Amino acid sequence: MPFTRGSTKIRNYIFIAAAVLLFGARACLSQSVPGGDLPENLIPGAEVTKAGEFSIKQFLSPKTCGSCHGSIYEQWKGSVHNQAFADPIWQSVAKLFVREATTDYAKADAQRCVRCHAPVAYVTGQLKTTDGDFSKVRKVGKLGISCDFCHSVEASAGIGNASYIVQPGKGPNKPGIKRAQFEDSRSPFHDTARSELHTRSEFCGMCHEVSHVVSGLGIERTYTEWREGPYHTGDPKTTVHCQDCHMRQKPGVPATGMTDRPDHPGQACDMGPERPHIFTHYFVGANAGLPALMGSKAHSEMAIERLKHAATLELISPKAIQRGQLAEIKIKVTNAGAGHYLPTGLTEVRQMWLHMVVTDAKGKKIFESGAVDAQGKVDENAVMYHAVLGGPDGKPVANVAKATRLITDYRIPPKGRRIEKISLVVPPDAAGPIKVHAVLRYRSAPQEVLNAVMKDKAPTLPIIDMVKTEGEIAVER
Ligand code: HEC
Ligand code: HEC
Ligand code: HEC
Ligand code: HEC
Ligand code: HEC
Repeated sequence: MPFTRGSTKIRNYIFIAAAVLLFGARACLSQSVPGGDLPENLIPGAEVTKAGEFSIKQFLSPKTCGSCHGSIYEQWKGSVHNQAFADPIWQSVAKLFVREATTDYAKADAQRCVRCHAPVAYVTGQLKTTDGDFSKVRKVGKLGISCDFCHSVEASAGIGNASYIVQPGKGPNKPGIKRAQFEDSRSPFHDTARSELHTRSEFCGMCHEVSHVVSGLGIERTYTEWREGPYHTGDPKTTVHCQDCHMRQKPGVPATGMTDRPDHPGQACDMGPERPHIFTHYFVGANAGLPALMGSKAHSEMAIERLKHAATLELISPKAIQRGQLAEIKIKVTNAGAGHYLPTGLTEVRQMWLHMVVTDAKGKKIFESGAVDAQGKVDENAVMYHAVLGGPDGKPVANVAKATRLITDYRIPPKGRRIEKISLVVPPDAAGPIKVHAVLRYRSAPQEVLNAVMKDKAPTLPIIDMVKTEGEIAVER
């Protein structure tokens, strides 16, 4: 019984939630509640943790946890979660968005970035809003999304917009209850309890689902994309949760939808029992640039490994084409490895595109799309998989706090595919056979946008070749 040792606060919430369901008196929340079965400690309508509810002394340093949970600490250290506050790209963008926000609509949204990116600083009042003083963030607050934050989560009030309810301990002498999957774990240091929430995508969905706080416009929809996709079968035996891909990865084991996702046997704690599977804590997505910038080569390499096992490309072309005639070449791009859309997350910033080149037998270019110029800018006519958000005038906006509508969303659903076409006329002087070469490429943000935001501090973001295909087509006459 997960709640027997939980706070009375939570028991009250269950009562309130039941009352809300009975009387339909739903408060206006920025969290959403999906239908279907939910973990028992997801309590729709419960009150989320507020800014400054706790003191920083209540959140223990990851190093303290690491003194017993050594390998988990090494995996988490340098991860994107560890960098979520220190991330210089996030800091620059967040500061810019707040400065630019002039309407109440935009201000409300721009002030809450810290709730997901610096949750410990937020709940301890070090950083209540995005325009707070970043230099006042100290100790565990600086370390992003850390052990004692995730494992002090007691319940969730719904999906998205930082719907977490945390209950940390009272400092090193009374560290409180740490929650995860085990029913039977015993620690000499802290209390333990099983939390169903931690074993399911709804846990990640507390933050990996971002909607505009005023209009509800979807900004990041990773949880919903997963929930509505084929990896969520509705059957607990076959459902593949976020954890099953992202917390099974380790070097050499990308653990995606198109590879094995083996168990990782070992000990959860250096002094604990041997167990058939311990979830890994690298939390690798697609971001290879940030970990490299912050000095974690291992996480960067694992992101590349993940991206190389996310998609497949297939060339569908005629065996032969006639010189001087219009020919059609198709390239099928399949999202074979991601449990959500490809790409997902901050899709108005992420770039995934096709670089396609057709040459004649002597290497002379007949067609090209998706090239990157010397300044790092991608060809404007490239097939780009991303979402574009717009403002009230219908024009694209870079600042999501100002966004009021979705203009386009051209991405690939989980296990879905898109077919791109190249139409070309083989020139009369082209030497046959012609050669087709296509590469699916990924970069975390447009270089020119990053340069504009970060000026001379802008790092050069790596471009990762996810998958390639090539083929030859004979030329007749
Ligand atoms: C003195 C050693 C020690 C320290 C320090 C320590 N733990 Fe543990 N922890 C353990 C042991 C032992 C277990 C039981 C392992 C098992 O059952 O396999 C455990 C289990 C856990 C579990 C599993 C709970 C469950 O029910 O699934 C979590 C989560 C956890 N610890 C988190 C933390 C966090 C967060 C910190 C830092 C605030 C921390 N631990 C510090 C020894 C420690
Ligand atoms: C982003 C949230 C998050 C962070 C940060 C995090 N964990 Fe976990 N941890 C989880 C989740 C979720 C699980 C359970 C996964 C499951 O059961 O599906 C887990 C499981 C565990 C377990 C139990 C082992 C197991 O296989 O279930 C221990 C022990 C643990 N974490 C310790 C730590 C320590 C120590 C740190 C910091 C170095 C840490 N965690 C950081 C989310 C987190
Ligand atoms: C407290 C909020 C929070 C929770 C809970 C959380 N995340 Fe995150 N996660 C973030 C934020 C914020 C970032 C981005 C930080 C950055 O890029 O600066 C992130 C980044 C990531 C990344 C790296 C993305 C990339 O581009 O490479 C992965 C993978 C990830 N999270 C997976 C998970 C999984 C799996 C869970 C559930 C077990 C989870 N997260 C739970 C807030 C959270
Ligand atoms: C079937 C395996 C699988 C499942 C399930 C899965 N992911 Fe992923 N995830 C991937 C792969 C592969 C990538 C790399 C390609 C990409 O960026 O989408 C990825 C990338 C990501 C990224 C980085 C996206 C970007 O481009 O910036 C985040 C964040 C993320 N996942 C979070 C989640 C969350 C949260 C869940 C659960 C709601 C989840 N994932 C479920 C396989 C999976
Ligand atoms: C509800 C939680 C949540 C809130 C609130 C939130 N974010 Fe994020 N943010 C995330 C997650 C999760 C990711 C990782 C997704 C991915 O990798 O694509 C992320 C990634 C980012 C990144 C990419 C960082 C990098 O290094 O590539 C930037 C920039 C960012 N967020 C800016 C903001 C700004 C600015 C705000 C406030 C207007 C904000 N976020 C509010 C959850 C949140």
